[in-house]
Formats: sequence, C-alpha cells, structure tokens
Amino acid sequence: MELNDTLKGWLGEVNKYLDELKYGYYPEELYEPIRYIMNLGGKRLRPLLTLLGYQLYNEDTPSVIPAAAAVEVFHNFTLMHDDIMDEAPLRRGQATVHEKWNPNVAILSGDVMLIRVYDLLLNLPDVYVKKAMAAFNHTAAEVCEGQQIDMNFETRDDVTVEEYLDMIRRKTAVLLGFALQLGGLLGGADRFDQKLLYRFGVNMGIGFQLKDDLLDVYGDQAKFGKQVGGDIIANKKTFLLIEAMKRAQGAQAEELNHWLNATDFDPAEKVAAVTAIYNDLDIKALTEAKIADYFSDSADALEVLKCPDDRKALVKAFTDWLVARDK
Ligand code: IPE
Ligand code: IPE
Ligand code: MG
Ligand code: MG
Ligand code: MG
Repeated sequence: MELNDTLKGWLGEVNKYLDELKYGYYPEELYEPIRYIMNLGGKRLRPLLTLLGYQLYNEDTPSVIPAAAAVEVFHNFTLMHDDIMDEAPLRRGQATVHEKWNPNVAILSGDVMLIRVYDLLLNLPDVYVKKAMAAFNHTAAEVCEGQQIDMNFETRDDVTVEEYLDMIRRKTAVLLGFALQLGGLLGGADRFDQKLLYRFGVNMGIGFQLKDDLLDVYGDQAKFGKQVGGDIIANKKTFLLIEAMKRAQGAQAEELNHWLNATDFDPAEKVAAVTAIYNDLDIKALTEAKIADYFSDSADALEVLKCPDDRKALVKAFTDWLVARDK
C-alpha cells in the first residue's frame, strides 16, 4: 500500500529539509555517521505525524517542517544507540553505525544528534519553545526508561503482557504521541485536543511496536531492512514470546526453555526452532488481533477531535498505510 499524494508530497518536503540539514563537519568521525544514518531512508512516520497533527488546525504545513525534522533526528539518535544495545548488524538494509565504524563512534555521534534536536526546537516560535521542550524532555526520558526496561527484560522469564505493554509504551509509543501533540500545539489545538492527539499517538504507537515485534519474526528481511530473528536471538520479551511461554506445554515448554537458556547456539537454528513453536501456537494471529485492537482504540480518540472531517480523513489514510506496512 502506498501513501496518498498529499502525504507523499509532505514526505518529499521533509526529506528535502533533512537532506539540507547541517549537523557539523569536524571531526569527520563524529558527523559522517549522522549523515549516513539519516540518508538510509526510513519511513519518516514521526515527522509525518507532526505534519498531520498540525494540518488538523492550520494550513501552513511548510512552517512546521523544522519541528517535524527534530522528531525524526531524535528517532534516528535512538536507533543509533538502540543498535549498539541490541547488537544489531543491519539497519534499513545497511550496516549499523557501530558495525561500520565502532561503538564509541555510535555513542558520540548519537549524543551530538540529540544536541542538534535541541537546536531545532530552540528555533521554534518563542511562544512555543518552553512548552515544546518540556513535553520533549518528558518524552525523551520515557524513551530511555523504556529502553532500559527492555534490556532488563532480556534476563527475566516472568515478564507479563502488562509489563511488556508498559515497556513499549515508553520506548516507542510516547514518541509517536509527542510527534502528533507537537503538531497540534504548533497548529493551535487547545489543551484538550492536544491530550487527545497524544493519546491517539500512544495507542497507535503500541500497535506499531507490536507490529515491529511481529515483523522481527515474520517479516521479509530484504524489505524489513533489519535482521529477522534478532529479538529471538536476544531473548527479547516481546508479546510473541510472552504469549508462547504462557501457552507452551510439556515437551514444547521444555524446548522453549532450552532455547531461552542456551548460551552457545547457532543463531539460525534458535530462530527456526522458536519460530516453529510460535507457528504451532498460532502466535501470529494472536499478535495480529492485538495490533488491530490498539489501532482501533486509537481511531476512537480521533473521532472526538474538534476539526473538520476531511482533515481527519488524511490521518485515517496515514493509519491505513501504517497498519498495512511490511517494512
Ligand atoms: C523502528 O522505527 C524502531 C521502532 C520503534 C520500532 P521505524 O520502523 O519507524 O524505523 P524507520 O525510521 O522507518 O527505519
Ligand atoms: C526500539 O525497539 C525502540 C527505540 C527506542 C529505538 P526495537 O529495538 O524493537 O527497534 P528496532 O527493531 O531495532 O528498530
Ligand atoms: Mg533494536
Ligand atoms: Mg531495542
Ligand atoms: Mg524491533
């Protein structure tokens, strides 16, 4: 499924702005990896969300592109550090920064990206700077919390679905909520609508991370651009694994435990074995149903917003695209 023409147009403008963005030049080892990761593409869904939040209240969408870009730069900073933490070899179909350079480079380049995010936010109209930065800081700290909880869960075997949902809300969903809310704030939404936009984004973000976890097992690596099976290798406590641990019985439970406790294993063999257990337990359909729940909850929040239906229709077109994604 493709984005509709309006959204495609915005995507072009966002990418043009990002292409021209200057992060710095010297030393090259600090700035080159930033240009590298930013040029790898990606769906750019977070800046689109900021534009979508804005257009619900205001027509002058080009003016919000720097703010939208700030959200995307922050997202790419989290990816650079996330790939070190997850020991991920691939990002958007290419080598990760810590693999192509080294982990120290990925740490420091990521740090300076976060600083450039603040530069972009400082350039917002004065009346919005303080509010936008406060909301951003709150969100960014929650992302770090989610990331640490995600790591903590790798070595626990009693993580509940509720704990998992709280973890992905922090590491992923709040940034989608913030992206939309920021657009609404800059577009002139009142506080009530800003809250609704945030809630809409968070529910969508939970559905989105559930889908990411699903694609990590069932995606096509060539399209997904990340190592398929990475979550299984790392014992990530995803919805899929938690449900499989709940459902597996007898010999199957023993086999799953064996793989979770294995220290010396062939990664491909582990991925195949755990995936076979998921298949047997119908985990894919279960996850798809959960994803659909979160996306439909998010649609409810949209209904209540005080803006024209044709503007909401664009948000709907975006979510349809996001639900259908295979990368
Ligand atoms: C990847 O996000 C990280 C998650 C929160 C799942 P995206 O799937 O938006 O990654 P890109 O930017 O399109 O590559
Ligand atoms: C990452 O979750 C969320 C971030 C804050 C980056 P994942 O670890 O699942 O993201 P991917 O799959 O590597 O993109
Ligand atoms: Mg990762
Ligand atoms: Mg991760
Ligand atoms: Mg993932």
